Amino acid sequence: MPKLTIEKILETAIEIEEQSQALYTTAQGKAKNPSSKKFLKGLAQEELKHEEKLHAMMKNKAKLAELGKHERKVQDLKIVDYMEDTSLSADADYATILIYAAKREKSTFEYYNSLAKGLESTDAGAVFSKLAQEELAHKNKLETEYDEYFLKEN
Ligand SMILES: [Fe+2]
Ligand SMILES: [Fe+2]
Repeated sequence: MPKLTIEKILETAIEIEEQSQALYTTAQGKAKNPSSKKFLKGLAQEELKHEEKLHAMMKNKAKLAELGKHERKVQDLKIVDYMEDTSLSADADYATILIYAAKREKSTFEYYNSLAKGLESTDAGAVFSKLAQEELAHKNKLETEYDEYFLKEN
């Protein structure tokens, strides 16, 4: 297993947030309903805010040094394998995207939750705990959108 530094953790989380934004931006083009487009735009904006929070943490060198002391604990949790599946075919329809996105939010929730545990009692731990809850809320919203989508279509 590669060495898991706090910088690496934050870089990975930033990548996750960038991919989430790309996913919800692409999905806007596949959604026919204006309310669905608006919903997805809102999700993309929230993922952008997540990314900005993580960038702020990355820039705070003093905080990074402090977090470095908790690396061992994070490493012991073996959290690197959470975000494996990142492929979605380009011709995926809206329903497929919603299912994929909901699963992805669940993985992100679990990943951030692990980080929150590993970094417990640090500011970063609190940030990841909050991010985890927001990703879980995204999963729930996507599932609701999925249900409503079929009601609208059928
Ligand atoms: Fe996010
Ligand atoms: Fe999310």
